[in-house]
Amino acid sequence: SRSINLAVVPGDGIGQEVVAQGLKVLNAVLPQDVKLQTKEYDLGAQRWHRTGETLPDAELDSLKRHDAILLGAIGDPSVPSGVLERGLLLKLRFAFDHFINLRPSKLFPNTATPLAGRPDIDFVVVREGTEGPYTGNGGSIRTGTEHEVATEVSLNTAYGVERVVRDAYERAKARPRKKLTLVHKNNVLVHAGHMWKNIFDKVGQEYPEVTTDYLHVDAATIFFVTQPERFDVIVTDNLFGDILTDLAAAVTGGIGLAASGNINPTGAFPSMFEPVHGSAPDIAGQGKADPTATILSVALLLRHLGFETEAGRIEAAVSADLAERDGGTVRTTDEIGDALAVRVAG
Ligand code: IPM
Ligand code: MN
Repeated sequence: SRSINLAVVPGDGIGQEVVAQGLKVLNAVLPQDVKLQTKEYDLGAQRWHRTGETLPDAELDSLKRHDAILLGAIGDPSVPSGVLERGLLLKLRFAFDHFINLRPSKLFPNTATPLAGRPDIDFVVVREGTEGPYTGNGGSIRTGTEHEVATEVSLNTAYGVERVVRDAYERAKARPRKKLTLVHKNNVLVHAGHMWKNIFDKVGQEYPEVTTDYLHVDAATIFFVTQPERFDVIVTDNLFGDILTDLAAAVTGGIGLAASGNINPTGAFPSMFEPVHGSAPDIAGQGKADPTATILSVALLLRHLGFETEAGRIEAAVSADLAERDGGTVRTTDEIGDALAVRVAG
C-alpha cells in the first residue's frame, strides 16, 4: 500500500498556524489506503534562543530520511537577520540540493489584486535554488568603517544553469502554450548573463516545440504588471527569481495564495514545500493568516510524490472556495482550513 513519510517544520510566527491547516487538508484529501506518517521538527527562532542551534547535523540526517518536507515559515525579529535564513532555510535548500524553486502564479477568481478580472494569468517561475548570490560568497573588510568594502559574489556554474534550464524546458514542453522566457540582466551582468543565455540557446535546440523569449529583469517587472498573460514558464537565477515571485504573488492572488516547492527532481533528497510568504510576526497567533498558500504548497507536494488526482482536488477546492469567498466576511485561519478540508473530502 502507498505511504507518505512527511517531515513537518512549522517554524516561526504564522508558520505554526498555516502548517496545521495544511496538514488538516492533507489528511482530508488522502485516500484511506495511503498511510500518512508525520514527524514534527522543532526548528526556528525558539530553538535558537533555547540552544543556539539552527539546524544540527542530527536533525539534517533525520530530515533526509523523509519522503518530503512541509515547511511553514522561518524568521523572527528577535533573531539577528540572516541567522535563521542562512542557518536553517538556505541550509536545507543547499544540503538537499533543491535546485528547482518552483513558484506557480495563477490569477484565482475573486481575489483583490491590481490585476483582478484579467484573464489567463497562469505562469510558473522556475527559480534556480542553489547558486547565484545566495551561496554566501563574499565578505567585508574594514567592516563598520567609512572605508568598508563588501562583496556578494554571484556564483553560476554551467552545471547548475544547465540543469535548471533543462528542467524549465521540460515543464514548458508539457504545458499547452509551450513557451519559455529566460529572465536575466545580460546587458550588465555580462559574465553570468551570457553564460545563462548561451546555455539557454544550446539546450533549446533539443526543444524545437518550445517557443523562447529573453527579457532583462527590469523589463520583466513591467510586463508582470502590464502584460502578465504573455508568460508561461519563466526560468531565472536565484535572486531575480526571489524578487520576481513576490511581485508575481502581489499582482495575482496576493502573497496569501503563493505556493512554492524546493525540488530536487533526481529524488536523491527530499523536496521541501512552503508558502512564499514569511513568518509575519505582526499577525502571528491571531488566526488572521491565510493558510491557502500552504495548502496549495501541499498540492505541489502531492503532485511531486505522484498524487496528481489529490493535488488537482486541492487546487480545484481553492478555486471554488475563492470564487465563493465573500469579501465582507473575514474568515479565520482555521475557518479557511476547515472549508478547504470539507471541499477536498466531498
Ligand atoms: C523566499 C524567502 C527566502 C529567499 C529568504 C527568507 C531566505 O524570501 O523563500 O523567497 O530569499 O529565498
Ligand atoms: Mn522571497
